Amino acid sequence: MRVLVTRTLPGNALDRLRERGLEVEVHQGLFLPREELLRKVQGVVGLIPTVEDRVDAEVMDRAGPGLRVIACYSVGVDHVDLEAAKARGIRVTHTPGVLTEATADLTLALLLAVARRLVEGVEHAREGRWQAWHPELLLGLDLGGLTLGIVGMGRIGQAVAQRAQAFGMRVVYHSRTPKPLPYPHLALEALLAQADVVSLHAPLTPETHRLMNRERLFAMKPGGILLNTARGGLVDTEALVEALEGHLFGAGLDVTDPEPLPPGHPLYALKNAVITPHLGSAGRRTRERMAAMAVDNLLAVLEGQEPPNPVV
Ligand code: DGY
Repeated sequence: MRVLVTRTLPGNALDRLRERGLEVEVHQGLFLPREELLRKVQGVVGLIPTVEDRVDAEVMDRAGPGLRVIACYSVGVDHVDLEAAKARGIRVTHTPGVLTEATADLTLALLLAVARRLVEGVEHAREGRWQAWHPELLLGLDLGGLTLGIVGMGRIGQAVAQRAQAFGMRVVYHSRTPKPLPYPHLALEALLAQADVVSLHAPLTPETHRLMNRERLFAMKPGGILLNTARGGLVDTEALVEALEGHLFGAGLDVTDPEPLPPGHPLYALKNAVITPHLGSAGRRTRERMAAMAVDNLLAVLEGQEPPNPVV
């Protein structure tokens, strides 16, 4: 029985698959081109894809009727056609919880980088422009007293809220249903009107696609900050470029649309956009735990048990 893992994974979790007698093919490249995925997936019983692999009906059908489980190496599952999996009786699992803290940490890192103009400061020093201390050099925003508006108050949103409170920020949030939390729950439009910083933590679904459209970006407070460590598709990128050219103070983006953001994209030219290459969960321990979870899920299904982290 063969399992395809679409990228090398940190740690040794895959050894457990081999110990159970599974043949494990690990794709070695940085990319897995679509044609190669379609070829390699033929005949597998299990697939461990990353967020870069679009796993749709075509991939499932190429795998054939033996495919029993798609054990995502991610918490987000927007890259998998869940309906197609359901229709074919294929289980889909993910890695919730384990990357909450790492992603919340990165969100705060981006917030500090944007608010305190960290990248500009580093470049200023490195490029030999640091000639004197000056009271007006590279002034940024003080976080204490600002209002953070969290959109999507799941595990990661809540972990961001805790961290923001430690910086003296006031927290408000928007989610489909109010939760028993010590922060005001607001309608999205009210949140945009009140928040100095808007941080996105909602999953990407047809309902949330381009949630931050032009109108909503410009409904944010002038001088506000947008953070996105969730999915690039939540934001209208073209409108964001415009909003960053005068309306907003800045944006911290770990995810983009398109992703990867191609060289020469207008966002890179903006000093007030701090962009990282989808590093939210990129702590070594976190990434090793994600691998262990994906393996636990995959083995459970192949052994006829309920997986610990099912999606469908
Ligand atoms: C996820 O898990 O969905 C992240 O985007 C990648 O770790």
